[in-house]
Amino acid sequence: MIKKAVFPVAGFGTRMLPATKSIPKELLNIVNKPLIHYAVMEAIAAGIEEIIFVTANHKRALDDYFDDNFQLNQALKEAGKTDLYHEMKDIAGRVHPIFVRQKEQKGLGHAILQAASVINNEPFVVILPDDIFYSKESVTKQLVDRFATVQKSIVGLQSVAPEKTHLYGVVSIDSDEGNGLYKLNDMVEKPKVNPPSNKAIVGRYVLTPDVMDVLASIKPGVGGEIQLTDAILKVCQDDAVYGMEYEGRRFDCGNKEGLLRASIAFARDYPDTLSALIDETKDLHNNHR
Ligand code: UTP
Repeated sequence: MIKKAVFPVAGFGTRMLPATKSIPKELLNIVNKPLIHYAVMEAIAAGIEEIIFVTANHKRALDDYFDDNFQLNQALKEAGKTDLYHEMKDIAGRVHPIFVRQKEQKGLGHAILQAASVINNEPFVVILPDDIFYSKESVTKQLVDRFATVQKSIVGLQSVAPEKTHLYGVVSIDSDEGNGLYKLNDMVEKPKVNPPSNKAIVGRYVLTPDVMDVLASIKPGVGGEIQLTDAILKVCQDDAVYGMEYEGRRFDCGNKEGLLRASIAFARDYPDTLSALIDETKDLHNNHR
């Protein structure tokens, strides 16, 4: 059973500036919950018990989000807002996070490496909380369940348009194992030309702990950063790595369009916002005519 999840959250979030100048990207919200809330709940639904945030000095507000706010709780209680009171207690009560620091932003791979001592030679999940999924079943759970049978690293995969492959790690397929699972034989981070396929790695991974040794020894790759994709490729060459097409819709909430689309998609689950959404989109159509 996989019990640990690493959430690398030390990036600057430059695509969402100026919003992210003073607010961590992970606290930008969809309806009334921050991105990190959805991502952590997805992990909990997969049986994850230990959440490790790889963070930086500009991300302290994340710590507060998963802590109790005593004064707020008191005020909600006294005002008789019991539903909200219990919701606040629930957020703080479910998660007991561990925070490790990435002192310099040397890339995603470098961020994951900072969690090595907490991972302590166990398989673990990596969740990039700016990728948010609208799905029936937790996407992390889908990957973790598959890991139970293959016992090898698995990366989440999505088919992307050919003109978008240069934005992702892109994989090459060795064999189709059925039910959305593929054995991989190559992967390239942000290929400028000749992507090996149109299947891109998205922000969900189950990794075997050997990747930590690789991360400790590899050289910087694309963009001068220690790339997680490069380390997973080494594990693929030395052992085996799989890719899995999950069920669900992914939103890249690290950019404006993705966050907006996610807000619209998730509004379906909030009956009190749905009518406002329908009204506004009606207006949009009228204005476009
Ligand atoms: P991104 O590529 O989205 O970078 O990182 P970013 O800084 O968050 O956002 P932009 O591109 O500048 O807008 C993917 C994930 O890796 C983490 C980020 O926090 C994000 O969850 N990351 C990236 C780190 O933790 N450390 C790094 O050095 C780089």
